Amino acid sequence: MKTFESKLNQIENSNLYPFHMPGHKRRPINSQLASAYVRDITEIDGFDNLHHPTDFIRLEEEFAAKLFGADESFYLINGSSCGILAAIHSISNVPGRLLVARNCHKSVFNALYLTGKEVDYIYPEWDEDYPFNGSACVDQIKKMICRESYAGIIFTSPTYEGIVSDIEKICELAHSYHIPVVVDEAHGAHLGIWGGDGFFPKSAIQCGADIVIQSTHKTLPAMTQTALLHVQGKLIDRIILKHQLTIFQSSSPSYILMESISDALHFCAERKHELAEAYTKQLEDFYDETASLKNLYLFSNKDTQGSFVYDHDPGKLVICIRDNVGMTGKELGLLLREKYQLQMEMEEENYVIAMTSVMDTKEGFQRLLAALREIDRELSNQLSDRKRENGDIIKKRPFPYSRTRLTIRDAMNSKSREYYLKDAKDKISAEFIYLYPPGIPLVVPGEQITQEVLDYLTEKGDAGLKIQGPAKIDQGIISCVSDE
Ligand SMILES: Cc1ncc(COP(=O)(O)O)c(C=O)c1O
Repeated sequence: MKTFESKLNQIENSNLYPFHMPGHKRRPINSQLASAYVRDITEIDGFDNLHHPTDFIRLEEEFAAKLFGADESFYLINGSSCGILAAIHSISNVPGRLLVARNCHKSVFNALYLTGKEVDYIYPEWDEDYPFNGSACVDQIKKMICRESYAGIIFTSPTYEGIVSDIEKICELAHSYHIPVVVDEAHGAHLGIWGGDGFFPKSAIQCGADIVIQSTHKTLPAMTQTALLHVQGKLIDRIILKHQLTIFQSSSPSYILMESISDALHFCAERKHELAEAYTKQLEDFYDETASLKNLYLFSNKDTQGSFVYDHDPGKLVICIRDNVGMTGKELGLLLREKYQLQMEMEEENYVIAMTSVMDTKEGFQRLLAALREIDRELSNQLSDRKRENGDIIKKRPFPYSRTRLTIRDAMNSKSREYYLKDAKDKISAEFIYLYPPGIPLVVPGEQITQEVLDYLTEKGDAGLKIQGPAKIDQGIISCVSDE
C-alpha cells in the first residue's frame, strides 16, 4: 500500500487552502523542482560541500548575508532546529549560565539538555485580556544581567503568534555586558527582507542580534526543512559556530532543498518591492475588513501600543474568539477546515492562527474573509437566541510555570519512576510536556509539577488540545525523577 502517495495525492487534488507553512503555499517558483528526482543529488564532484563551502554554496551564502544584512549566513537543511542547536552549543564553552526565555521552542530545550548548561529563565509579559504570551520582558533581563554574568541570552521573536520583542533594547543592554544575543527568528525570515519598512517590524539582524536563525520554509517560498543562520559582530567565535553546524547538519545535504533556499531568496530579492506592495495591501485590506467582526477578532499592531506586546508581525493572522461566544479554537479550526476547506496552521484554546506569505493569493484571503464573516454572523444569531450574557469576560491566566529543581540533563539522566499524571503532584518531571504546535514546553525536565500545572493540563485536554512529550502520555503516564 503506497500510503504516502495516496495521502499526498489527496492533498494535491483537494481544494484545501493552506493557511499554514510552508510559505510557498504549494505554488512552485521553480518549475524544474517539480521533477525533483532528476535533481536529487548530494555532495558529488563539482557540487561544493555544505560543511566546508568554497564554490557556489559559498557564493549563495554570501548573497544571503548581503540580502539579510548579516556578516555571514549559512544554509540549513535540517530546519531552524539544527541552527538553534549549533548556535547554543557555540556559546556554551563560554563560562556562565544561559539566560533563556521560558517560552522558547523545544529545540532550545534540547540544546540545553545536550550542553548541560545551567539556566535562568525570563518569563514573557502577560495580559489577562489576551490568550497568549507577550514579548520578552526587558526589565527582567536588565535585572538579571546586572546580577549574573551570562554566557548568552536566547529568546524567540517573532513567536508563533507573531509577537515581537524589543530586540534593539535587549541587544543594547546585553552588549554593554559583552553578552551575545541569540534570536530564534524561525517565524520571521520575511522580516529579514521586508522588516523595518514601516509595515513589518525590524528583523533581529537589523536590531543588532549576534546570531539569528530563520526558517525560510515557514514564511518564505522555500521548501520544508530549509532555514538560514546569520551571524554578525565580534561576540561569537565563528570557528566554533561553523564546527557546530557540521555536527548538527546532515553530511548528505539535499541539493533540492539548497536550490529551494536559493530560488526563494533570489525570487524575493528580484521582486522585493512588487511582492511587498501586493502582500502589504492584501494584509491591510484583510485587517480593515475583519475589523467589523463581532464575535471573532484579529489581534493587530493597534492592540500592542503600551501593552504586553512590543510589536506584532501582521503576517500572522491571530483569529481570536471572544470569551462569551462559546466556541473553542479547536472548533473554529475544524469548521474552517471541514465547511470552508481552509486549513489553519494552529488551533489554541481561544484562537486559531492563519500563516500568510507573499505567495498567498487574493482568492485565499477572500475565502478566509467570507468564511469568517459567515461564522461571525451565525455566532451572533446563536447568541441572540441564547440571550448573550454580558459581562462574563473570562480573564486569562498565564501558564503556571513551576520551579526548577534540577538541570534538564540531570533530570533526564537520573533514575526515574512512572506516575499517572493525576498522582504526579510535587514530583520532579523527567520528561518534557508540551502542546504541538507550538512546541513550547509546559513542563521541562527538572521542574516540579504543581497542582496548578495539572489543572492547566486538564483544561487544555478538555479544550481538545493534544498534549505530547511523555513517552506514555496516551496512557496518562509521565516519568518523574525517582525519590529513592
Ligand atoms: C519558535 C520556533 N522555533 C524553532 C522552530 C523549529 O523550526 P524548524 O521546524 O525549521 O526546525 C519552530 C518550529 O515550529 C518554532 O515554532
